[in-house]
Amino acid sequence: MPDQIWWKRGIVYQIYPRSFQDTNGDGIGDLEGIRRRLDYLAWLGVEAIWISPFYPSPMADFGYDVCDYRGVDPMFGTMEDFERLVEDAHARDLKVILDFVPNHTSEEHPWFRQSRQSRDNDRRDWYIWRDPAPNGGPPNNWISNFGGSAWQWDEATGQYYYHAFLKEQPDLNWRNREVREAMYDAMRFWLDRGVDGFRVDVIWHLIKDAEFRGNPPNPSFQPSQAEINRFLQVHSADQPEVHEVIAEMRSVLQEYPERVLIGEIYLPLERLVAYYGEDLKGAHLPFNFQLLQASWRAEEIARLIVEYEDKLPDGGWPNWVLGNHDQKRIAARVGLEQARLAGMLLLTLRGTPTMYYGDEIGLGEVQIPPEAVQDPWEKNEPGLGVGRDPARTPMQWEDGANAGFTAGKPWLPLAADNGDCNVACLRDDKNSILSLYHQLIHFRQRHPALSVGSFELSGAEGNVLAFERRHGDERFRIVLNFSKENRSCAIPRGSKARIVLSTALDRTGEELDGSVELRPNEGILATLERD
Ligand code: NOJ
Repeated sequence: MPDQIWWKRGIVYQIYPRSFQDTNGDGIGDLEGIRRRLDYLAWLGVEAIWISPFYPSPMADFGYDVCDYRGVDPMFGTMEDFERLVEDAHARDLKVILDFVPNHTSEEHPWFRQSRQSRDNDRRDWYIWRDPAPNGGPPNNWISNFGGSAWQWDEATGQYYYHAFLKEQPDLNWRNREVREAMYDAMRFWLDRGVDGFRVDVIWHLIKDAEFRGNPPNPSFQPSQAEINRFLQVHSADQPEVHEVIAEMRSVLQEYPERVLIGEIYLPLERLVAYYGEDLKGAHLPFNFQLLQASWRAEEIARLIVEYEDKLPDGGWPNWVLGNHDQKRIAARVGLEQARLAGMLLLTLRGTPTMYYGDEIGLGEVQIPPEAVQDPWEKNEPGLGVGRDPARTPMQWEDGANAGFTAGKPWLPLAADNGDCNVACLRDDKNSILSLYHQLIHFRQRHPALSVGSFELSGAEGNVLAFERRHGDERFRIVLNFSKENRSCAIPRGSKARIVLSTALDRTGEELDGSVELRPNEGILATLERD
């Protein structure tokens, strides 16, 4: 596929570095661990790895609280480790995408230390400082994403500062030109070291309402929900001026060839697509999280695919995400059988797929005992089910102590079934979910119809989804049974249809005559040829 840029044709694989591979026995993964697993990633066939933050950080939010944008936290290794990782990744044709966290710093970042020193400090305006409301309370009703007011009182200077997440994560003031330039330089620092792009954390948060108006109440708020849902986030995020900032970031990337800008955005579709930017000068890939939130029914998935395809701006490239470090794992959400189907869906939809480490082995949700909870959000709002630890547990590599993740004590427990659910075992099992991912990925690589070809919905009824992908003379039909019963689905006559892959990996080569019989939870990928 020489005519397609890498981030359109390939697959992005997210690595949560704390949990991928430990090499120094501290129970926490590191960059050298990722490097040692590059052969696995190359075997799997992904195009790029996106690594969650490894910058120096007090780890209040496990690295999403950065205190130096140009370094590597010793917990994860050294700059030399990073350079070796990039070099070895590139030697295997793997791209490296960094997680960039520009909305907020750590409270321990030197910029914030200066900013909080006095009201007339040169860096005061780098953060968001406001006087109290007339009653002495917070300036407005904005809520932190992790619960409680988003405003923290600073005794020394008699003002509040704003933090959309933890109070240890003060928000930068992106209306300040110096802040922008400092952050663009930080991006260049990594681009100069060969990084192939960025996934930008909470990109839709960067600009807040200039007048700091209060958010309106959310009429459908339920007390069982996290507190952030109490108000509609009308003024605290997704402001029109954010698109100018993103266009500037994009032009920084344009100084280098073939780099990608991915934006983390949780917004309804109509608002999400605006992040492609005017004249497509925004994010290349505004993350599409719909599969993470959709109810798992064929009709519903069909509806959202069609709506997404319909709303994409001309020339805007689609993308699909099945899991990440903030969401319940797919195998936990839909079950192991449907997780196979989900993999087939992800890897046959039009657009760039993003996979989350461990989903390819069907890693499920690991129950975390209360005393072992790590996630600050869970600690702030216990009992609501917001905890993210269950989706961040260590990768399982082999049948052995700690599944080969660490020689020490893992920072989070492993899944109880790690003796079977691990890369080594599943790689040897020709019917495993890992074998399915491997075959799907390699088939997809060889057949442009599946990555860059056109998409057409063929039907969605009885909880079965069918669609076609075409490119040149190639034509594939994908039929996915979301139900737990047998289903029969028509295949167009006048063409010779043959199964390439089924999610159970046991029907390759089977000829189809006018219809396909699907077992419960089964998906098939078939090639259609003219007679
Ligand atoms: C989004 C990240 O994905 C999440 O893990 C983090 O807690 C927040 N942004 C704050 O940076």
